[in-house]
Order: sequence, then C-alpha cells, then structure tokens
Amino acid sequence: MPFETIANDYGLIGKVAIVSGAGGPIGKGLDEGVTNGRATAILLARAGAKVCVVGRSPELAQHTVDLIGMEGGEAFAHVADVTQEADCRGVVEATIKRYGRLDCLDNNVGRSAPGDVTEMSLEKWQSMFALNVDSMMLMCKYAIPAMVASGDGGSIVNIGSLRSIRPLKSTVYTVTKGAVMALTSTLAVDHGAQGIRANCIILGPVFTPNINRNLTPERRALRTAATLTKREGTGWDTAQLARFLLSDQAKFLTGQSICLDGGASMIGPSR
Ligand SMILES: NC(=O)c1ccc[n+]([C@@H]2O[C@H](COP(=O)([O-])OP(=O)(O)OC[C@H]3O[C@@H](n4cnc5c(N)ncnc54)[C@H](O)[C@@H]3O)[C@@H](O)[C@H]2O)c1
Repeated sequence: MPFETIANDYGLIGKVAIVSGAGGPIGKGLDEGVTNGRATAILLARAGAKVCVVGRSPELAQHTVDLIGMEGGEAFAHVADVTQEADCRGVVEATIKRYGRLDCLDNNVGRSAPGDVTEMSLEKWQSMFALNVDSMMLMCKYAIPAMVASGDGGSIVNIGSLRSIRPLKSTVYTVTKGAVMALTSTLAVDHGAQGIRANCIILGPVFTPNINRNLTPERRALRTAATLTKREGTGWDTAQLARFLLSDQAKFLTGQSICLDGGASMIGPSR
C-alpha cells in the first residue's frame, strides 16, 4: 500500500472554527495587542478556516474580525459570556447558521486568582470554576454534536496553564487548570470513536495585554528567567501550537496535555 501523501497545508481550508476569548485591545497592533485567542483566530483564518470570534465585548471581538478581514480572511464576531449555558449554545448555533458546519473549537477563556485555600471564599472558588472549567465543558457540550453532524470529526484545544503542574500561590488556578487537563483526556476518550480529538496546551509565561497590565517589570523578569529560552512566549507561540493541534497535521494526536513554556517546567518552581 502506498504511503499516504503528506500535505503541505493544514487541511483547514473551508473548515470552521470557534475561538473563545478572541477579542483584544484596539489600536495596539499585532504585537502588544495580541491575546492568545486573537492570535489563534488570525492564524486559523490565515490557514483558510472561517472563524467565529467569541468575546464579551462586541468592539474588541469585532476588532479581531476586522484584522482578519484586512488580510482577506473570513470571520464573524459573536458576543457571549461562556460561563452561561445559553450563550455557549448560542455560539454554536450562530456558527452553524453562518457557515453550516463546525470542525474546530479553541477553548481559550480563563483567568488566574491569587491565594491559598485559607484566603479563598467559596463564592470566588466557584466563580473561578465557572470561568475556567464550566466554560470549556459547556462549549464542548454544544460543539461536539455539531462537529459530529458536520461529518468530518473535529478537534478541540483547551488552554491550560503551567500552574497546574507547578503550583505557586494561586490554588484555584492550579486546581481549575488541572481540571482542564482531566477534561481534555476524558473528551478524547469519550468522543474519539466519533472522530473528535482533544488536546490541552499547558501554557507557561506568555506576554499578553493582560499580563502587561498586571505584572511589574520585576515579576516579568522573573518569569522570563524561569524559562530555558530566556524569553517569554507570545500569543503567536500559543496560536501556532493551537493551529497545529486543530489541523489535520495533528490527526494522530489526541488526549495529550503539552507544555508550551520555553522549558520552564524543566527547571523547577515557576514564578
Ligand atoms: N498569558 C499567560 O501568561 C498565560 C499563561 C498560562 C495560561 N494562560 C491562559 O491563556 C488563556 C488566555 O490568556 P490571555 O492572557 O490571552 O488572557 P486575556 O485575559 O488577555 O484574554 C482572555 C479573553 O477572554 C475574554 N473573556 C473573559 N471572560 C470571558 C467570558 N466569560 N466569556 C467570553 N469571553 C471572556 C476576555 O475578554 C479576553 O478577550 C487563559 O485560559 C489563561 O488562563 C495564559
């Protein structure tokens, strides 16, 4: 039997993707203004996918769509709070209505919160679970049947964090991102026979607008020093791996949690 032909492209032309948390600042350009979700939406569109850009703010999501449009790509903005079940159902319905199919889901929304268990209210703990875990579960709940109905299987990427395997004073973030890894492997097992792949990116120090706003230069220098590459990642690093995992190039890859961290996980405690 001849070897399968290896394609040069990602197999994403004409495919349809949803990227959650894909907004980002306006007027900051594609370096300073790139969130992980915005970069992923742009790289998917560059590979020929049509993208549903999901965000809470219509203007910020629309700006990502405009950036994609300026490059000749295809995308639309959909406003949703992905902690809400009706909104997650609405994202999938709007995507099917617009493009008629669904192939890829990038679950990117998530946030950190400081504190150990003695410092954490139950209310805060539960709201962090809603944002970091429920959101991904709910998007998968509605996306998977739509992917299966589209006929070519599908691929899911869930964005995790280095904190899940290198805890440091953000207990709820560690626990929720650990749950994201567990969710990913169970999605792969439960839905593999339906042609669905699921992988998690365990993300290390990545320079995004949010990080820029919230970290002092000293903290950022510590984060950089804690890598082997001696540089922080960017949203583009995240997007390149997400695009690969979502594409046909990764069709033998599922159920995995992959560190994208400049090697920070290799050298002990993260900062
Ligand atoms: N930046 C890092 O260093 C880093 C490291 C590890 C993991 N991560 C993970 O990467 C992901 C994205 O990180 P980022 O730095 O680009 O974050 P960000 O805060 O810059 O972007 C997140 C986006 O999600 C949107 N969002 C927030 N809550 C939402 C909701 N309820 N519904 C819909 N949209 C919502 C925000 O508006 C924003 O556009 C998160 O899961 C985060 O935990 C980031």
